[in-house]
Amino acid sequence: MTAAATTTDTFRPALHYSTGGTWINDPNGLIFHDGAYHLYYQNNPFGSEHANLSWGHATSTDLVSWTDHPVAIACDEHEDIFSGSIVFDREDTSGFGKDGTAPLVAIYTSAFKPASGLEGIQAQSLAYSLDGGYTWTKYAENPVLDRRSADFRDPKVFRYEGDAGSYWVMAAVEAQDFQVLLYKSLDLRNWEYLSTFGPANATGGIWECPDLFPMAVDGDPEDVKWVLTVNLNPGGPNGGSAGQYFVGDFDGVTFTSATTVTDGLQDPDRLGEYQWLDWGRDYYAAVSFSDAPEGRRLMIAWMNNWQYVNGLPTASWRSPMSLVRELTLQTIDGETRLVQTPVGDWAAVSDSVSNFSLPETTIPEGTTIIDGAAGVVQRIDVTLTPGTAEEFGLVVRGEGALGTRIGVRPTEATLVIDRRDSGQTDFHDAFASIDTAPIRSADGVYQLTLFVDRCSVEVFAQGGQVTMTELIFPSLTSNDVSLYAVGGSTTLNSLHITQYA
Ligand code: FRU
Repeated sequence: MTAAATTTDTFRPALHYSTGGTWINDPNGLIFHDGAYHLYYQNNPFGSEHANLSWGHATSTDLVSWTDHPVAIACDEHEDIFSGSIVFDREDTSGFGKDGTAPLVAIYTSAFKPASGLEGIQAQSLAYSLDGGYTWTKYAENPVLDRRSADFRDPKVFRYEGDAGSYWVMAAVEAQDFQVLLYKSLDLRNWEYLSTFGPANATGGIWECPDLFPMAVDGDPEDVKWVLTVNLNPGGPNGGSAGQYFVGDFDGVTFTSATTVTDGLQDPDRLGEYQWLDWGRDYYAAVSFSDAPEGRRLMIAWMNNWQYVNGLPTASWRSPMSLVRELTLQTIDGETRLVQTPVGDWAAVSDSVSNFSLPETTIPEGTTIIDGAAGVVQRIDVTLTPGTAEEFGLVVRGEGALGTRIGVRPTEATLVIDRRDSGQTDFHDAFASIDTAPIRSADGVYQLTLFVDRCSVEVFAQGGQVTMTELIFPSLTSNDVSLYAVGGSTTLNSLHITQYA
């Protein structure tokens, strides 16, 4: 199991994955296989800095409680093991299978070191597992796809079955060129170039960790569109690392976006027109699981931002993953957009669970602590109808003047997270911030679901149409929940809190 949250480890999350005492970044190789969800991740097995990149490994059956396993694919004197993906090669197209056992095949980026003779090159390599993902063998003929590029990385491979045929497709980035390159293969060893997507929309930072997958629009299997996600760093809507997505079509060769606003260099004034996986500061390197049951599209991200990761006050472990989210593609005001809802049986990892509710009430101007609602690990579901207040919402992890403000400014049509007084903020100049996302009311009502944990808040607004994820570092005594309204009053329609402890 992951290290338990204890009162001596102030920031150790209760509902999120974190490692015992080392560095992690991107989720890698996400796959559901033999009844378990496998989470591999960028890991320094020896320390708390971004170095010695290897793939750490954890498994879960409920997507909330995780069992740690030994490092799966380790760096060596020739290469660091950068991000990538895993496929189950059912038909043994790769030939790595043995005695009737089909292999899991990892496709990762070799970040070559001097001893390799390829120093500075990033190319795609393979490793395979014949025991369900616990032990891995690197392919002797690596790399399998080398463009002699210093920034060609993060391969996401999936099986394409469509009008153009049946084969493996790889999406990988040329990071500095803001491009996603697509390749095809019949055996995972030999790759043929298909096409290039980008630059498009946000290009304020290098492109990393792409993903490409089909989704039924509004659940209609006859109406399938393709979603291309790509993370960028910096250049996010509130600064630093973030993930954007495009909706369009993939014909087996080329991805065509229907949501591109601008080609070429980023227009900083148009960030609000692009589609973002999350508008907060701490949702990066998001990728989806392969082979999730029932065709579900489940995504997880590194809950951090390259801007300030090295200063995080979390002792030796650094840093957590987001909650797992289920993605659906829905028609909203005539546009096809991703909607995201958190997935998990959070009660399963809690020693005790209790519930708290408030009936409809008026929130007066000012900040009002809710008696009996205090907690540090909570799910809060709230609906609010604007009155005269220009801003209203909740303060979580509060204590005196401290707290994280999460609210709505109805006339600006924005969702706000203000973490300036959230707790420890002085470890980096860019951390204390007021961050915003566009939000539309549903018939005049705002609905927010908040997940509060020991070092984070995740906001799913309007049923997951808008999400914002942010780290916070409050003390354990900062546990008040308050309602607030600025410049007038507002109506709280309903509030329900699930307390996890
Ligand atoms: C994204 C990233 C990837 C790379 C990995 C290295 O956070 O920079 O592009 O593969 O991290 O750790």
